[in-house]
Amino acid sequence: MSAGADGGGGAAVAVGSSEGGPLEDGFVPSALGTREHWDAVYERELQTFQEYGDTGEIWFGEESMNRLIRWMQKHKIPLDASVLDIGTGNGVFLVELAKFGFSNITGIDYSPSAIQLSGSIIEKEGLSNIKLKVEDFLNLSTKLSGFHICIDKGTFDAISLNPDNAVEKRKQYVKSLSRVLKVKGFFLITSCNWTKEELLNEFSEGFELFEELPTPKFSFGGRSGNSVAALVFQKT
Ligand SMILES: C[S@@+](CC[C@H](N)C(=O)[O-])C[C@H]1O[C@@H](n2cnc3c(N)ncnc32)[C@H](O)[C@@H]1O
Repeated sequence: MSAGADGGGGAAVAVGSSEGGPLEDGFVPSALGTREHWDAVYERELQTFQEYGDTGEIWFGEESMNRLIRWMQKHKIPLDASVLDIGTGNGVFLVELAKFGFSNITGIDYSPSAIQLSGSIIEKEGLSNIKLKVEDFLNLSTKLSGFHICIDKGTFDAISLNPDNAVEKRKQYVKSLSRVLKVKGFFLITSCNWTKEELLNEFSEGFELFEELPTPKFSFGGRSGNSVAALVFQKT
C-alpha cells in the first residue's frame, strides 16, 4: 500500500496516525474514515465558500480530473451517458463534467454539508442539470442503478480507513458498485492508499481491468513507483 499526493497538488487520503492499532490489511484506522470527519470538513468549506467564494480542496489536484475526462473523450463516452460520482465532496468534478458537455450526471455523498456545498457551487456556476443526493454508498436508500460510468476519487480510500470493520465496508462497497453500474459499464477509481495490484484484488469479483491511467511517478533510493493509482475497471 502507498500513501501520497498526486503531482498536481491537492490533498490525499493518506494513512494517518490514530490511537487505534492497524487494521487487518495494515491500515491504521483514522478519523478520515468517519462521517463526522467529513461533516466537519464540509461544514467548514461551506462556510469558507459562503464568505470568500473559495470552492475548497480538489482531491489529487486538477490533473486527476483532466485525466478522467481525457479518458472519457478518448473512448468517446457519449455526452448523455449516465455518470455517478461516488463521494462527490464539493462536486467540482461534476462541474468539470458539465462544462465538457456531459448532461446526465449525479453526485452522491453521505455528508449533507458536502451536498449543500456542491449545490451552492453548481448554482454559482449557473449549471442546472446536475443531480445531487445525500446517500451513504454503503447503505443505498434509493433505487440508484443503471449507470454507465461510476467515478471514485478518494472515497474508497476514505472508506478503507474506517475504524469500524473496514474489511466488511470494502466488501459492501463492491456490492453497492455492482448494484449501481450497468453490465459493461466503467468504474474509474483514483487512489493513494492502494496500489494497482491491491485494487485488482479488491475488485476481482465482477470487474476486470480495462486500462491503467498514467499517473506521476516518484523515485526514491533506487526504487520507483506511483504515488497515486488510477484504474478503469469494466463490469463483467
Ligand atoms: C477524499 S474525499 C474526496 C471527495 C471528492 N471525490 C473529490 O475528489 O474531491 C472523500 C469523500 O467521500 C465521501 N464519503 C466517504 N464515505 C462515503 C460513503 N460511505 N458514502 C458516500 N460518501 C462517502 C466523503 O464525505 C468525502 O466527500
